[in-house]
Amino acid sequence: MTVRTMPWSTQLAGAESSALAAIFPADFQWGVSTSAYQIEGAAREDGRSPSIWDVFATVPGAVYRRQNGDVAADHYHRMREDVALMASLGIRSYRFSVAWPRVIPDGTGPTNQRGLSFYDRLVDELLKYHIEPMLTLYHWDLPWVLHERGGWLSRPTAQAFADYADVVSRRLGDRVKHWITINEPFCASYLGYGVGLHAPGLRDPQAAVIAAHHLLLGHGMAVERVRANAAPAAQVGISLDLASIYGADDRAETRAAVEKQDRFKNRWFLDPIFRGAYPQSLFAEQGVAPPPIQAADMELIASPTDFLGVNYYSRELISGDPDTPGSSRRVYPVPGSVYTAMNWEVYPQGLSDLLVRLQHDYAPAAIVITENGAAYEDEWSGKEQISDHERQQYLQSHIQAVGRAVEQGVPVRGYYSWSLLDNFEWAEGYSKRFGLIYVDYPTQQRIIKDSGYWYRDFLTQVPRP
Ligand code: FCB
Repeated sequence: MTVRTMPWSTQLAGAESSALAAIFPADFQWGVSTSAYQIEGAAREDGRSPSIWDVFATVPGAVYRRQNGDVAADHYHRMREDVALMASLGIRSYRFSVAWPRVIPDGTGPTNQRGLSFYDRLVDELLKYHIEPMLTLYHWDLPWVLHERGGWLSRPTAQAFADYADVVSRRLGDRVKHWITINEPFCASYLGYGVGLHAPGLRDPQAAVIAAHHLLLGHGMAVERVRANAAPAAQVGISLDLASIYGADDRAETRAAVEKQDRFKNRWFLDPIFRGAYPQSLFAEQGVAPPPIQAADMELIASPTDFLGVNYYSRELISGDPDTPGSSRRVYPVPGSVYTAMNWEVYPQGLSDLLVRLQHDYAPAAIVITENGAAYEDEWSGKEQISDHERQQYLQSHIQAVGRAVEQGVPVRGYYSWSLLDNFEWAEGYSKRFGLIYVDYPTQQRIIKDSGYWYRDFLTQVPRP
């Protein structure tokens, strides 16, 4: 299929751009997002132990060209340079993740002060530039030693996660006010345990629902710890990868398919967190038994949070399959639509619809867009600027979509672009670039892309506190 280019004419004129900026309140968190394994490198330094991703990356066929995060964007050694770059773009908040294997290399037990100190320095560096830190505790890099003890299939891993959350929030809770427990439990459980596309690479749908339950349990337990240690100002939430699901037609089987897919993709996590129960037919539809739920688990999982983190990239357009009741087909490509290098359809209205729906169905205390962005095939000649108009257009149209939701009264409090830097895109390795800043991997040189300059210019227009 051909990936069409975006019409440049959709770029906002100056007055339109300031009108868009003016929709957002002065305390709106404008940021960029990254995660530890994707950018840090320094995989064997200062006492870090291997994570499930270090090991998964060695499995033939698991990652594009057998790449791994050993060096990544070398952020561990270039942290000050990267924070200075962020400051030069006028970024107001930075979402990063802490690597559990750096902080507690054995998974449980003693803290590795050298590992924890890196994040201590990072937080101080951010605050020096008045960049508000937003810290994710788990962005998929489970210590391998814990995997050997059962990983997320084992209930004690949730407890171990809470203890790790305790260590990090005791150390950084005096300065970090925004906390995310888990990033995308759907990917961590389903892609990791259900279909084997991500670490640890299991292919067992039953394992996926068990892992998901323990991830949610870990979330609930960690909320309590973070609140206790980072009081009184701490804001705690979880980031979910959510999609707007649409029917391609109005047939009854399509409507049923949309609801089923929504239960699987969205409600599997939203319902327990906001309603304290899994959707009724969820496990039967997945052909599995419910996970082992113990007394009080669901109350813990539904512990009140201060915000819901939403990671939004695309929508799903599906139609019910008349020949096989209960199953559906994805419409791909959608005629007239444009796609990113990930083959994800660009569909900003899906973000507005999703935000309005979340507010209507779950009424979270607040919503923060913790990830939104696009991969394109950026090229750098070694000299010129990097023109990535598609990405600029993607970001602008999605910020407009957020604006429409804000105007409808949805309490969106922040927007974080994925990603600050090009980085290790999981199974896609370094083949997919999401950054506002290009990384020339052989030299580790950073080059701000045009989309980065666009974001900088846009941020000069948004209201200030
Ligand atoms: C999300 C992940 C993030 C990044 C983007 C493209 O699912 O949270 O790490 O890989 O997708």
